[in-house]
Amino acid sequence: MTVAGPTFDLVVAANRLPVERVVDASGGGTWQRSPGGLVTALESVMRGRKGAWVGWAGAPGPAPEPFSEDGMHLHPVGLSPVEIQEYYEGFSNETLWPIYHDVIVPATFHRMWWNTYRTVNQRFAKAVAEVAAPGATVWVHDYQLQLVPTMLRTIRPDVRIGWFNHIPFPPVELFAQLPWRRALVEGLLGADFLGFQRTADAENFLRVCRRLLGMATRGDTVTFTPPGNDPFSQRTVRASAIPISVDFRGLDELARTPEVVARAAEIRASLGDPKILMLGVDRLDYTKGIRHRLKAYEELLQDRAIAPPEVTLMQVALPSRERVDAYRLLREEVEGTVGRINGEYSVLGSPALHYLHHFYPRTEMVAMFLAADVLLVTPLRDGMNLIAKEYVSCRHDLGGALVLSEFAGAWHELHQAFICNPHDVEGVKQTIMRAITAPEDERRRRMKALRKRVADHDVQRWATRYLEALASAPVRPHRPTRASDQERRGVERANRANQRASDKASERVSE
Ligand code: F6P
Repeated sequence: MTVAGPTFDLVVAANRLPVERVVDASGGGTWQRSPGGLVTALESVMRGRKGAWVGWAGAPGPAPEPFSEDGMHLHPVGLSPVEIQEYYEGFSNETLWPIYHDVIVPATFHRMWWNTYRTVNQRFAKAVAEVAAPGATVWVHDYQLQLVPTMLRTIRPDVRIGWFNHIPFPPVELFAQLPWRRALVEGLLGADFLGFQRTADAENFLRVCRRLLGMATRGDTVTFTPPGNDPFSQRTVRASAIPISVDFRGLDELARTPEVVARAAEIRASLGDPKILMLGVDRLDYTKGIRHRLKAYEELLQDRAIAPPEVTLMQVALPSRERVDAYRLLREEVEGTVGRINGEYSVLGSPALHYLHHFYPRTEMVAMFLAADVLLVTPLRDGMNLIAKEYVSCRHDLGGALVLSEFAGAWHELHQAFICNPHDVEGVKQTIMRAITAPEDERRRRMKALRKRVADHDVQRWATRYLEALASAPVRPHRPTRASDQERRGVERANRANQRASDKASERVSE
């Protein structure tokens, strides 16, 4: 094929670009950092490499021209208003999202949404094909782009294709509900390597291949004949867990800066210097267990186990998918509960609950983490939950305590957290009280162990491990080589150098 623009050896494709275009009332536009854990993690990986990132610019309309930011080539994909409704809000977030998160709310199935999902995936595949150099490595991300691997392989059989799922992969019984289950699996199997957060997710995928599609699986690989191909041309794809992480060193350094330390003290002071400040930070999503958490908190206030001004909770609810009904309903419920709790239990000048429905720049989030004595991470189901890992990375003082749901992917690594089952309100209450009352040396011991885990398994290591697995798939990679260690050190150096640039990108930037 003829390639017109610049091409790259490493191409990332994700639903969103790391920055999104926000159009104001006058029709003018600014770029601001996109929401979500995927962007936070990948941005720090990509800043050290000269690659391209293909994604939606976050606003309806034709794709803006490709542009560069901090050495990265950003290649926008346009989505019309109808495509946003049908591909993003509809099929991605009202069909797949509930199925992949234990059907916490019912999934909706519409054939029109599926058709649009296919059309948009095809557009992403084409855009990737345009920017991928011969033999390039292409890293596709998440549930919004599950058809891209096979679509891309058809146009560009020369490239190596990996896919990573940031969210859980459902058990076969739930996946089976999808009318388009076969096409989705066949879409993914165009990849050479499929990465998942937990071993259980990879196993769910392999079970789907075996039970629903009758394919042969062996260990962590699946072997099959691609549809329409000669029956003797088999392919083998590897599916395995490589849990994502955060930029530990970047966060640790930022949390040690005098400005952030001072801001953390200021936050506590502005809340009346409570003895215990609890914090929740979540996208306002029904998977995050915010309702369950507030119920436990309300009951603790009711039982007089805690009370303001000594104890208070700050809940940051990051706006998310606001045009989807389930999210609108959740917001109404959460905000009703916040009003009830504050009406009942606040004292003059000391609210029982501080509720903030805003986005915050990275430095402010880090200051909040440093200010909080307890972080509550209580999702009903979560692929990983990077907030938990970010909190731990920021606590260089070994202060703070992490209350963590056993249904977050992070639980599989962060065993020294205070663990709870978010469905068990009594259990959540007890776990919160344990975290609040644990002796200081126990809290420090736990935090030290948590930090060691995240420091040793940071986002750079995740990216290196993923790319090694992709390079050697379907065979498992050998033990890390000296070359990969060098690569890792190089990326770390580049990352440190780019720290300031990354901070800048987290603030609003004018065009
Ligand atoms: O990880 C799940 C995910 O969809 C990511 O792709 C993204 O980081 C986050 O949730 C935010 O969701 P959205 O892009 O729908 O705002």
